Amino acid sequence: MNSHGSFSSSFILLFLLVSSSLPSPALSDSTPRCNPADNGALLRIKESLNIPDYFADWNSSKECCDWSHLGCGAYSGEVAVLVFDSINSPFKIPAAIGDLSHLLALAFYDIPNLTGSIPSSFTKLQNLVSITIRNTTLSGPIPEFLSQLKNLRELELPYNQLSGSIPPSLVNLNELKLLSLGWNRLTGYIPDSFGGFNADVLGGFSMLLSHNQLSGEIPSSLGQFNVSRIDLSYNNLVGDASILFRENATATSINLSNNQLDFDLSSVRFPRSLKSLDLSHNMIRGRIPKQITKLNLQSMDLSYNRLCGRIPVGGKVQKFGAKSFAYNLCLCGAPLPKCK
Ligand SMILES: *[C@@H]1O[C@H](CO)[C@@H](O)[C@H](O)[C@H]1NC(C)=O
Ligand SMILES: *[C@@H]1O[C@H](CO)[C@@H](O)[C@H](O)[C@H]1NC(C)=O
Ligand SMILES: *[C@@H]1O[C@H](CO)[C@@H](O)[C@H](O)[C@H]1NC(C)=O
Ligand SMILES: *[C@@H]1O[C@H](CO)[C@@H](O)[C@H](O)[C@H]1NC(C)=O
Ligand SMILES: *[C@@H]1O[C@H](CO)[C@@H](O)[C@H](O)[C@H]1NC(C)=O
Ligand SMILES: *[C@@H]1O[C@H](CO)[C@@H](O)[C@H](O)[C@H]1NC(C)=O
Repeated sequence: MNSHGSFSSSFILLFLLVSSSLPSPALSDSTPRCNPADNGALLRIKESLNIPDYFADWNSSKECCDWSHLGCGAYSGEVAVLVFDSINSPFKIPAAIGDLSHLLALAFYDIPNLTGSIPSSFTKLQNLVSITIRNTTLSGPIPEFLSQLKNLRELELPYNQLSGSIPPSLVNLNELKLLSLGWNRLTGYIPDSFGGFNADVLGGFSMLLSHNQLSGEIPSSLGQFNVSRIDLSYNNLVGDASILFRENATATSINLSNNQLDFDLSSVRFPRSLKSLDLSHNMIRGRIPKQITKLNLQSMDLSYNRLCGRIPVGGKVQKFGAKSFAYNLCLCGAPLPKCK
C-alpha cells in the first residue's frame, strides 16, 4: 500500500502506529493474540469475496494480526486498520466488516469492479476515525447513516460514481476535519447545514467537493464558518461567493474555479491567511481589490472572468504573470499591457 501516493496524513500516521506495533520475528512472544471475534469477522470477509490471491495468507498458519492488508492495535490483538487496494476482480463491500468493532481506519483504493453500496452494518463501527473509498466504481447516493459514525475525522470518497445530493446530516460528525467528495456525480445544493461543521478541529477543516454537478448558490452559512481549505471547483454553482471572503477568516486555500459565479469583487476583503486563490472560469465582475497586495499568496488565478480596471501593484501580485489575469473584460497594467 505504500506505493500509493494519496493516503491522507493521519491515515498514514495511524497505520504506522498500528503496524509498528506488529512484532518483529525476534519479538514473537509479544505477538498480539488475535481477538477471536475479529478473527471470525475476517474469515467471513474472506469468504464473502472470491479473491483468493488477495487473501493468500489469511489462514491458520499464522495468527490474524500477522495477515496482510491489516494491522492490529498495540498489544490488544484487535484489528484497527483494514485496507483493500488494487483489486480488479468483481468486488462487493462485505457487510461483515461491520463486525470488526475495534476498527479505526478502513480504506478501499483502486477497485474498478466494485458493485453495490456501503453496507449499513458500517454503523456498528463506532470507533472508526477514517474511512476512505477512492477510485472505485461505488455508485448510488452517499448514505445518510455515515453521519452516525461519531468519531469520524476523515470522510474521503473521491473518484467514485456517487450520485444524488449530499446528506445535510453529515454536519453531525463533530470530529470531522476532512470531507472529501470530489470527482463524483453529486447533484443538488451544498447543504445549508454545512456552516455548522466544527471549525476548531486541529489543523482546520477541509471541504473538498470539486468535479461534481453541484448547483445553486454557495449557502450563506459557509460565511460564518472558518473553513481552512475549500475546493468547490468544477461544479455548476451560481451567484455570490463573496460571503466566503472575510479578512478575519482563517482560510488558506479557496478554489472556486470553473463555476458560473457572478458577483462584484471590488469590495471583497480576502482572508489574510490566504495562500492559494483560484477564481478562474467564472463570471466575476468589478475590480481587483487593492488589499490583494497585502496577501502572502503562493498561487493565484483570476483568469476567464469579467474583471476590469487596473491590476493593483505590490506584494506578490505581479509575480504571477499574465496567465493569472488573462481573458477578463478589461483588466490592464502589469503583468498585462499598460492601461490606456
Ligand atoms: C497459508 O498462508 C501461508 C502464508 O502465511 C501460505 O504460504 C500458505 O500457502 C497458506 N495455506 C493455504 C492452505 O492457503
Ligand atoms: C474489471 O474492470 C476492468 C476495467 O473496468 C475491466 O476491463 C475488466 O474486464 C473487469 N474485470 C472483471 C473480472 O470484471
Ligand atoms: C484509478 O485506478 C486505476 C486502476 O484501477 C488507475 O489506472 C488510475 O490511475 C486510478 N486513478 C486515480 C485518479 O487514482
Ligand atoms: C474565525 O477565526 C478568527 C481568527 O481565529 C476569529 O477571530 C473569528 O471569530 C472566527 N470566526 C468564527 C465565525 O468562528
Ligand atoms: C478583524 O480583526 C481586527 C483585529 O484583529 C479588527 O480590528 C477588525 O475590526 C476585524 N475585522 C472584521 C471585518 O471583523
Ligand atoms: C483549483 O482546482 C482545479 C481543478 O481541480 C485545479 O486544476 C487548480 O490547480 C486548482 N487551483 C489551485 C490554485 O490549486
